[in-house]
Amino acid sequence: MSSFPRVVVYGASGHALACRDMLENGFAPHRVCEVIAYMKDGAEEGASVDGLPLISFEDWQARYAREIPCIVSIAAPTPRKRLVQKVVDAGGFFIPFYDRPEVAFRKVKVGEGSGIALPVFIGQNSRIGAHVLVSPMCSIGHDVTIGDYCSLAPSVTISGNVVVKEGVFLGAGSVVVNGKADKPLIIGEGCNISAGAVVTKSVPDGETMIGNPAITLDEFSRTRRYLRDVVPEEDEE
Ligand SMILES: CC(C)(COP(=O)(O)OP(=O)(O)OC[C@H]1O[C@@H](n2cnc3c(N)ncnc32)[C@H](O)[C@@H]1OP(=O)(O)O)[C@@H](O)C(=O)NCCC(=O)NCCS
Repeated sequence: MSSFPRVVVYGASGHALACRDMLENGFAPHRVCEVIAYMKDGAEEGASVDGLPLISFEDWQARYAREIPCIVSIAAPTPRKRLVQKVVDAGGFFIPFYDRPEVAFRKVKVGEGSGIALPVFIGQNSRIGAHVLVSPMCSIGHDVTIGDYCSLAPSVTISGNVVVKEGVFLGAGSVVVNGKADKPLIIGEGCNISAGAVVTKSVPDGETMIGNPAITLDEFSRTRRYLRDVVPEEDEE
């Protein structure tokens, strides 16, 4: 009998398989759980993936919902939030995997249903919300709050004193800097930070930010149209 909890991964894509690795081998200096099955809506009876059973939502509900916690592995925040609610409505539950004294970063709190891959750095006094997925090679500074349902793609770097609100997607290699102790930088709810963007100022809810320094996708598109359509005509004069 293993000493770590068993868990069912909701999802069966490549990202779900990476989630299994992140949970079984990541963050804490030991395995944090044992994945016993993947779950996918409409899965056929007897199916398997990654050497484990692939079960349908109905099968999971009948066999495991009240006994075995779940993690939702979907990368995008909005569908992940919807599936978390679906699991709860069906009688399922989630647990925190990392809030134990032996975890790697002692003054860090991590909410239920979240997965954190190695290698990672998380500074002191930072809080990772519930149902957050942190991909490998991320660096999260001190005094950072990551809201529920956020996704951090690989190689995200966040400086100290930053608040990332609920449901934000941080694209691969994006950087958030300039948070200050007396004025934390805030990334608004539901924002989409593009791959490689460098965010240097607070961002209102729902924006997509792109480039270095990051600007809104609308501004970015307007600038590109200007450079493509207007500047060449001026050059001709
Ligand atoms: C910025 C983003 C949201 C835009 O998506 P989109 O609206 O579908 O945009 P498109 O792919 O149609 O690209 C539009 C233009 O912007 C450019 N572009 C796309 N993403 C860009 C980025 N991150 N930085 C700079 N330019 C970018 C494209 O080259 C394209 O240029 P073109 O018009 O000259 O061909 C998306 O590209 C992105 O960065 N998503 C994050 C992806 C990620 O990190 N996933 C995790 C992987 S592990």
